[in-house]
Amino acid sequence: MPAADTQTGKVALIGAGRMGLALAAGWLRSRRGGLDGDTLVIIEPNPSDELEELSTRHGIKVLPELTKSAATGVDRVVLAVKPQAIPAIGEVLATRLPRGALIISILAGAGLIGLGRLFPGHPIIRAMPNTPGSIGKGISVAISNLDADPPHFRAAADALLKVLGAVEWVEDERMMDAVTAVSGSGPAYVFLMCEALARAGEAEGLPPALAEKLAVATVSGAGALLEDGHKRKTADAAALRRAVTSPGGTTQAALDVMMAGGGLPMLVRNAVSAAERQSRKLGSTF
Ligand SMILES: NC(=O)c1ccc[n+]([C@@H]2O[C@H](COP(=O)([O-])OP(=O)(O)OC[C@H]3O[C@@H](n4cnc5c(N)ncnc54)[C@H](OP(=O)(O)O)[C@@H]3O)[C@@H](O)[C@H]2O)c1
Repeated sequence: MPAADTQTGKVALIGAGRMGLALAAGWLRSRRGGLDGDTLVIIEPNPSDELEELSTRHGIKVLPELTKSAATGVDRVVLAVKPQAIPAIGEVLATRLPRGALIISILAGAGLIGLGRLFPGHPIIRAMPNTPGSIGKGISVAISNLDADPPHFRAAADALLKVLGAVEWVEDERMMDAVTAVSGSGPAYVFLMCEALARAGEAEGLPPALAEKLAVATVSGAGALLEDGHKRKTADAAALRRAVTSPGGTTQAALDVMMAGGGLPMLVRNAVSAAERQSRKLGSTF
């Protein structure tokens, strides 16, 4: 199989909903992906207003399906449709893509073996991003099949995924279910915490708008502080928590409730475990 020249050909983005649009916007905004109207084609049957605006501004072709002529010269394909759409789409795509084109899938639950059946002989990279990627603050975890093992394939995927934030690589695909449960679904856990904090503030007598503002600022400020401590290796989450917890103080009173009988850590452990099991279950149907 000839190795695709992963740096100089065209990219086809299949599906431009939330994640696909975030990728395209990142590639075009910063030009970090080195893509333009000649090197990026977007396949999306129902373009949103945002996609229309983006594609018009950058002169990008948006087509309802990947025609043979649009597929000419494509050496990287990013799959960003819903997982249930891929069997039908994959069959058509496989007949149109140039041999050896690198497939990068962000589909939750779609494993390398199933993708390999759909795209035989293609190097395949499976990645799991998360929604903070839409503002470049996400994290993606990726794994490659054997055909995509050579470093230039990983470098090509890295370059495309980096517009969403950090990229980590794993070698054992079984980890992808845990990754899905931690960082893929994780933003929702933090949003729930923020909602709960705002409602608790209201219950203590704060006006709803102020309670909401305090909760959002606290979650985002704590996140930024944590990121800073982590980057500079000065403090991790546990150290930051201890630093704001004086014995016998208000934070201690709240944390005593949160930790009682296993408390929040146990709840999170069980929640992540349920998400991991669900990810495995959904993946087994692909
Ligand atoms: N959102 C997340 O947090 C997240 C995190 C990690 C991974 N993912 C994965 O990322 C993928 C996309 O998620 P999303 O949230 O961006 O979903 P989404 O907003 O529903 O986007 C999927 C897009 O693909 C379009 N589409 C449908 N059929 C198509 C076809 N034949 N050819 C090309 N495009 C087609 C859909 O159009 P219609 O709406 O008209 O069907 C939609 O615009 C999913 O597989 C998901 O598992 C998502």
